[in-house]
Amino acid sequence: MNRWFAVARGTEVPRRHVGHYLLLGQELAVWRSDSGAINAWENRCPHRGVRLTLGSCEGEELRCRYHAWRFASVSGQCTLIPAHPGQKPASTVRVRVFAAVEHDGFIWVNLAQGESPTAPTRVAHVLDSTRSIFVDAPLYAVRETLLDGYPVDSTASRLAVWSKDAYCLSAGNPDHAALVTFLLQPVTDFQTVIHGALHTTVEETARLARLRRHNAAMGTVRDEAERRAAAATGGGATA
Ligand code: FES
Repeated sequence: MNRWFAVARGTEVPRRHVGHYLLLGQELAVWRSDSGAINAWENRCPHRGVRLTLGSCEGEELRCRYHAWRFASVSGQCTLIPAHPGQKPASTVRVRVFAAVEHDGFIWVNLAQGESPTAPTRVAHVLDSTRSIFVDAPLYAVRETLLDGYPVDSTASRLAVWSKDAYCLSAGNPDHAALVTFLLQPVTDFQTVIHGALHTTVEETARLARLRRHNAAMGTVRDEAERRAAAATGGGATA
């Protein structure tokens, strides 16, 4: 559990938006306070268990939709119970929070509790990103498929770097415009999202062509990973 995973692009979580994400089966409410703090909370109100993603961000607090209890950014501490406005909520009334940081254009979450997890490995300078692809296969199948080759072009066909504290794989020649890092998000034990981070910039026309190539290649990786996962469970062809 003590690993960092990219769960979203930073642009997907603007201020006042509460996003719903899944990491290793854990439902998350991810939101950004007005001061810019990134929060990744268990998507469950400590009062009656309503999803916090149904609530609203109000500056430095998130307000639950059901009984309008308010919880502070970063700590998750309850700050107001409207039915008892004169009472200070007990310190034990708080949302379960997870470590979250934003860097390289992505929001990273670590589900470890009771310790201060070290920061995730930085991805090389990210200048663009592919669309994220959902794969109906476990992380190991996606990782193995990527390691066997990434079908963009011959210079980007081998994966060169494996990072231990975040699932990052790099493909391509550092001097080549196809350089990309894949950030793997295990949504559940059986499902994975691939985020692609590109490290070079090209002019707009070439950019669109490049994104199309990567999107097509990631689709091929998805199909192969799903085929392998199905074969491993006896549910698909093994050819
Ligand atoms: S369920 Fe959230 S305030 Fe009651």
